[in-house]
Amino acid sequence: MRTTQDQAIHLKNYKEPEYRIGTVDLDIDLHPNKTRVKSKLSVIRQKNVTKDTPLILDGDELKLISVSLNGKLLSGDDFHETQTELTIKKLPKSAKFELEIETEIDPTANTKLMGLYRSGGNYCTQCEAEGFRRITYFLDRPDVLAVYTTRLEAHKSENPVLLGNGNPVKKGSAGKGRHYAIWHDPHPKPSYLFALVGGDLGSIHKPFKTLSGRKVKLGIYVEKGKENSADYAMDALIRSMKWDENVFDCEYDLDVFNIVAVSDFNMGAMENKGLNIFNDKYVLGDPETATDAEYSNIEGIIAHEYFHNWTGNRITCRDWFQLCLKEGLTVYRDQEFSSDERSRPVKRIADVRGLKASQFPEDAGPLAHAVRPETYREINNFYTATVYQKGAELIRMLATIIGEQKFKKGIDLYFKRHDGDAATIEEFLKCFEQAAKVDLSQFALWYSQAGTPLLNVSSKYNKSKQTFILEFEQITPSTPGQKRKLPVYIPQRIGLIGSNSNDMKATKVVGAEFKDDVLHLTKRKHKVTFSGINERPVFSLNRGFTAPIEVDYRQSPSDLAFLAANDADTFSRWQAYQNYASKLLLAGYRAVLANKTMKIDAKFLDISKDTLLDESLEPAYRATILSLPSEGDLAQIIGKNVNPDAIAKSLSVLKTALGEIFEPERNKVLNSLKSSDSFNASAAEAGKRSLRSLLMAYAVASKSKSALKDVVSNYKKSNNMTDRFNALRTIVNYHPTKTARDKALADFYKRYTHPTPKPECFGVI
Ligand code: PHE
Ligand code: ZN
Repeated sequence: MRTTQDQAIHLKNYKEPEYRIGTVDLDIDLHPNKTRVKSKLSVIRQKNVTKDTPLILDGDELKLISVSLNGKLLSGDDFHETQTELTIKKLPKSAKFELEIETEIDPTANTKLMGLYRSGGNYCTQCEAEGFRRITYFLDRPDVLAVYTTRLEAHKSENPVLLGNGNPVKKGSAGKGRHYAIWHDPHPKPSYLFALVGGDLGSIHKPFKTLSGRKVKLGIYVEKGKENSADYAMDALIRSMKWDENVFDCEYDLDVFNIVAVSDFNMGAMENKGLNIFNDKYVLGDPETATDAEYSNIEGIIAHEYFHNWTGNRITCRDWFQLCLKEGLTVYRDQEFSSDERSRPVKRIADVRGLKASQFPEDAGPLAHAVRPETYREINNFYTATVYQKGAELIRMLATIIGEQKFKKGIDLYFKRHDGDAATIEEFLKCFEQAAKVDLSQFALWYSQAGTPLLNVSSKYNKSKQTFILEFEQITPSTPGQKRKLPVYIPQRIGLIGSNSNDMKATKVVGAEFKDDVLHLTKRKHKVTFSGINERPVFSLNRGFTAPIEVDYRQSPSDLAFLAANDADTFSRWQAYQNYASKLLLAGYRAVLANKTMKIDAKFLDISKDTLLDESLEPAYRATILSLPSEGDLAQIIGKNVNPDAIAKSLSVLKTALGEIFEPERNKVLNSLKSSDSFNASAAEAGKRSLRSLLMAYAVASKSKSALKDVVSNYKKSNNMTDRFNALRTIVNYHPTKTARDKALADFYKRYTHPTPKPECFGVI
């Protein structure tokens, strides 16, 4: 059926639009099946474009009612309509003209959730990437920026709330039980940021004053009766707004900022200008039903969409190939926000785990693509882990390579130079090149080359010469359509740790640039010599996960143990503990398969106990580091012919051993992690909950008598979903008595079964 969509679109074929649109006046009469859309466009022909060049507008599933040009109704000969396009053939001489188009759409029949649709009786829209063309004929491409004024009309009792982009201008009665609202958005924007909502919704409101004194009315709209569950989201929004002012000097720019939660939504949420629309699971947070992980998701996604106001909306993308320009950068910004609001090391570990779980396999499989792809058939398939998560890693790596201060200078320049633009990755990188006075052409390969580079590393210590020599070789595997790869710019934050557990300082480093603990590897191979190293160091590399690469560096169990106990870098310390634990668990796995008993390494248990008791580490970090690799992590390392029972057995033996060694300390540690009686969703409290739960899980795994009792009473007395669910999981996984397990499950089922179970929605995650 579709013609243009079936053909691949190529970045190299990008052409500037021949026509632009200055203003858009929309008049939308909301009706369940026959919504009328009147659109008045001021069109501007671009320089060097002749009047014979037809104006071709995009459309999809629209019923065309009429077209007028400069106030004159056009006849069928003057335009041509297909399923995907409306072509205006005869155009006036003057470069500027006005086009009025009237269309009809059926929001109730729209089950694609693209364009205008209905969710639970409410009207809402989704226009990214190409949904606006399902509302009206338009130049539906991100480099056509226009100023929108929208008049909405609906039945007053059915849709008392009418929201649009920008600022509210006027509202009133439209007769016959109908009412209207007019919204004006002064900021030119691409059509994918258009939104409207018409519905019967409850709401909460808070005032916000920006740094320069602008008063903003914040609103969150939810299903009636759920208003209280939006308080956490509102708090997260206010913290996001303040953070963006403090860290990026980005202020909000309208008089209102509204968020609407809907239950039917294909993705997480959408950053429409001044009117974000959310999948309601990322807005509603109630202690009875939301876990700490869900609260942190709400916080992160509220921040992400809000941060798009600058990175995405004020500066948008020239074309969809540049998607990572807004998404990678905005993910980086939300990760930084959550790191500041919560625990930085725990956030970093979670992000890297996520990257390795979803982006690494993507990069290694048949769908591998560059962070900025060069061709696509269907843009909706490019909202990927590579564009979002690897895209964020590239920004983080850029900050590491040029340093925090120059990074800030570069981003400031980007905001200043490109405010109001539809920009490209090249323009973005140019800002950093100029601010930091560096050449980023090699770094730019990260945007065009797919695949996860592998860094092979070997080391040698020479006692008599007091040198430590590192050899590096990078290889990026071939990916579909990209056989040969060039060497990429790999920064490596490293440490040479001495026996006193401090990082040693070399007197001289040759073989690669080395500055502020970062090695800059730019060639396929490097041999780097550190001089003045007076004892064999334990080498810590890819600290903080400096680069999104795989590292192959053989480390002895004793070096891993040393790093797990001593690495000053909290990420690498976690990584070392994980690698160490994996080695033990895999040895255990093999022992189980051979019907032998699994050996438990006493040193591992000692390090674990010291870590548990180290109060200089936040509870959230202690819980993260002491969580053993999952069944899935281990299966991935084993690769072929995985025996899940043997993995489970190996894990259970190690957990039991940890439970036994922790047992004498358990009550003391639990006492230090006490929470107040009323529930608090803060990161600090969440951290305590997670360490308490880990301790209880290991204690129950080791069949501690008191723990078996305590976990059941913890289940019963929990005042929040996190504690209750953690206790349930521990009981179900480790409690030896079947009745205890069955009782807990039955109670949980009874407690949380919706009175009228809601059938699972199709395709909605
Ligand atoms: N742009 C949205 C986000 O932040 C994601 C999205 C894409 C939502 C396409 C809907 C449709 O990240
Ligand atoms: Zn986004």
